[in-house]
Amino acid sequence: MLELRPAEGSDVSAIDEFDIFLGDRLAEIQRREIIVAEWDNTIAGYIRLHRDFFAKPFIALLVVKDGFRRRGIAESLMKYSEELCTKDERIFTSTESYNIEMIRLLDKLGYKPCGVVDHIQKESEIFFSKVLRLP
Ligand SMILES: CC(C)(COP(=O)(O)OP(=O)(O)OC[C@H]1O[C@@H](n2cnc3c(N)ncnc32)[C@H](O)[C@@H]1OP(=O)(O)O)[C@@H](O)C(=O)NCCC(=O)NCCS
Repeated sequence: MLELRPAEGSDVSAIDEFDIFLGDRLAEIQRREIIVAEWDNTIAGYIRLHRDFFAKPFIALLVVKDGFRRRGIAESLMKYSEELCTKDERIFTSTESYNIEMIRLLDKLGYKPCGVVDHIQKESEIFFSKVLRLP
């Protein structure tokens, strides 16, 4: 029912149907930063994991399509991304302070707040990290 896989260039139009974030998804796909979730052959969500943040694994984007939420898709995408970090001690992400859904998800998965940055967007951006393995 749910399949997670690296995105391909041909997924861009399906992603565009529900994408809410700025950025060049095709370029990110070509850099192999995007994982998609397919639910019964529908692209129902994606996550972007990159290493441009102090060379640390950083989850920059995560979206699940309306109508497919609260089925565990975001949780599965987060866990899949964590499993890609086979040699990393920590993984990082951030979200705006009002994003209760994302903050609850991060809390459920064991992420802890590690800093707040203002003036990026209207609301404060809260950074989170999770220990994947001990040094
Ligand atoms: C945040 C988001 C990705 C969650 O996707 P999802 O697939 O619905 O999440 P899941 O079904 O995997 O939920 C996992 C956990 O997240 C939390 N959660 C998710 N949606 C929630 C909601 N509407 N209210 C409260 N908690 C919520 C819960 O802890 C949930 O666990 P539970 O079902 O056992 O209570 C989705 O709401 C979304 O795409 N939002 C818009 C984009 C966004 O804000 N992205 C994050 C910032 S980059």
